[in-house]
Amino acid sequence: MPSSIGIGVIGFGWMGQAHSRSYRSIPSYFPETGIAPRLVAVADTVPERIDLAVNNFGFESGTTDWRQLLERDEIDVIDITAPNALHQELAEAAAAAGKHIFCEKPVGIEPKATAAIERAARIAGVITGCGYNYRWAPLVQYTRQLINEGRFGELTHYRGRFFSMYGRDRLGLLSWRFLQDEAGYGVLSDLMAHAIDMAQYLCGPVARVVSVKEIFVKERPLPNPGEGTHYDRGKPDDPTGAVTNEDYVGAMVEFASGTRGTLEVDRSIFGPQSSMAFELNGAKGAAAWDHEKLNQLQLYLPEEQAVDGFIEVLAGDALPHQGNIVPGGGNSLGYEDMKIIEALEFLKSVEAGRQHHPDFTDALANASVAAAMARSWESERWEDVVSLRIEGSEA
Ligand SMILES: NC(=O)c1ccc[n+]([C@@H]2O[C@H](COP(=O)([O-])OP(=O)(O)OC[C@H]3O[C@@H](n4cnc5c(N)ncnc54)[C@H](O)[C@@H]3O)[C@@H](O)[C@H]2O)c1
Repeated sequence: MPSSIGIGVIGFGWMGQAHSRSYRSIPSYFPETGIAPRLVAVADTVPERIDLAVNNFGFESGTTDWRQLLERDEIDVIDITAPNALHQELAEAAAAAGKHIFCEKPVGIEPKATAAIERAARIAGVITGCGYNYRWAPLVQYTRQLINEGRFGELTHYRGRFFSMYGRDRLGLLSWRFLQDEAGYGVLSDLMAHAIDMAQYLCGPVARVVSVKEIFVKERPLPNPGEGTHYDRGKPDDPTGAVTNEDYVGAMVEFASGTRGTLEVDRSIFGPQSSMAFELNGAKGAAAWDHEKLNQLQLYLPEEQAVDGFIEVLAGDALPHQGNIVPGGGNSLGYEDMKIIEALEFLKSVEAGRQHHPDFTDALANASVAAAMARSWESERWEDVVSLRIEGSEA
């Protein structure tokens, strides 16, 4: 008997649409799970997006007032894909309404907001999930399995990065995302959240950090109020304004296990397009993976190889999830397939009534590392990672 789980999505932009496609495709890709998401309602402030959701994605209804979703008994899960500045208000309200919550990273506009959101969900006792999709790539899962089996030996080094192209155009408009007042942090919350999650997923908790930041594109053309999108360009002689949050964050990190590493993220770099990647080295071997080539893993396991050096492994249907989406070997998955796996695993947790991972406690552990990096920018010293968890269960 299929298990129907009612979904309400708040924010129907890039992520809202990606999550909705993922929910829709679960019954066809994973029929054996019996999970049947029901797209009950969508909320967005843009009426055309509501029309798109209802007419093209199969949502039963839509509204410009997200609060209406919380009153619907048929909705079991609130999926938050609205801008970061809204995460806290939406998540706290959803928790108070007793809804299970999936929230996109970074789960709040700043680390303190993540702590408040984690507390609200903990008090409400709801199941939570978070959009660290890169950990769901089948070859990342395989790498973690190899780590847990001890095939690399004790991990000694880890290098994580997320280099994205989205801010590299110097004529890209000064949209809200480049302004500290409107967006909060820059790449610390946008890209470093993914790099920290991958690092902690593979190597365990980060214990201390020393970090630097930089704004490489200091001025951008001013947008005309009410016109244009984030991806529109100005002209070389347009009036400009100052970028006030960081394009780049670099950090040296020490894990609680003793593993040493670096994490580096940038939105204005030339060359990489979406290089969310890691290299790790242990006492007995090494691995390297890059989202730009997500179906390829570089492996070095000298005890198991006849020749020395990295060997490339291709993803295939022997790996969990992959065969459901595309059978055979060397048939590639893409970005949105990680979102499908993410949605499936979250709904499996909801159906089973068990806490999920990554959840808001993982988001809090992530934000606690980010907060230590931000403290290090000021102190110019190593900073211990201190949990931002707000104790207590009082309402
Ligand atoms: N995991 C990932 O790989 C990934 C990628 C991109 C974005 N994200 C995260 O997803 C979230 C959304 O990012 P996006 O790129 O989809 O943004 P977007 O701008 O494409 O979409 C946001 C949507 O929210 C709507 N919205 C704004 N205010 C609203 C309100 N009060 N009520 C309802 N809807 C409202 C907007 O109209 C828009 O349709 C962010 O938190 C971002 O960090 C995650």
